Amino acid sequence: MRTPIIAGNWKMHKTLDESVAFVRELAPRLEPFAGVERVVCPTFVSLAAAADALRGTPIKVGAQNVSHEEKGAFTSQIAPDMLAGLVEYVIIGHSECRQYLGETDELINKKAHAALNHGLKPIIAVGESLQQREAGEALPFVERQVRAALADISAEQMAQVVIAYEPIWAIGTGLNASVADAAEVCGHIRSIVRDIYGDAVAGALRIQYGGSVKPGNMLDYMGAEDIDGALVGGASLKVDDFTTLVELAAQAKGV
Ligand code: 13P
Repeated sequence: MRTPIIAGNWKMHKTLDESVAFVRELAPRLEPFAGVERVVCPTFVSLAAAADALRGTPIKVGAQNVSHEEKGAFTSQIAPDMLAGLVEYVIIGHSECRQYLGETDELINKKAHAALNHGLKPIIAVGESLQQREAGEALPFVERQVRAALADISAEQMAQVVIAYEPIWAIGTGLNASVADAAEVCGHIRSIVRDIYGDAVAGALRIQYGGSVKPGNMLDYMGAEDIDGALVGGASLKVDDFTTLVELAAQAKGV
């Protein structure tokens, strides 16, 4: 049985004060749903304060990115050992970072290694564009992203990895993928991982869906066998919505 994982990616939202106030309100609301792993990913500016405010609660914290470099002249970047001990998770390869920051598959693989080497659990995001989906290239494209991101990651390390399938055209657009499409790609991701690492690793891997997830569609996604949770943008910025998503995940997965 895989523990469902719901992570809120706040992207570039909430000031320091807003972040702290938000997690203080959120934590007691999420507390009852112990069968679901609950993660919030604030901006770097708010990470330490949010982590402080959440200490002693079951809510975990993740960062939205990490450098693959250890230290040095990399203006604006955050090294993995700066996050170690502060956060448990880190999102890597988000389509917005691929698109706006020019992050490549090769770089994302380096970041995954850097994170794992410092005890951080990567949430590796993959997903196709609308053009690729319409051209029938979604599965092979996502497969290339997954294989590249996982290059030289060991079976043992895979226990720490989460993969998030986020079709680019469904992010922040309200155009969520159909459950059948999302389930197909998530099932394909699991079969790729089975091909590389075998049944045990594939069976234990947690795969999230992301892209316009909201209370009204959450149960449908969570009903799919290969979807173990959600990576949520917009709906994670509201206490009521995020709480409902966690509650629905618990309900759907019977935890
Ligand atoms: P939305 O839930 O706002 O579509 O964002 C999804 C996402 O990109 C999460 O990482």
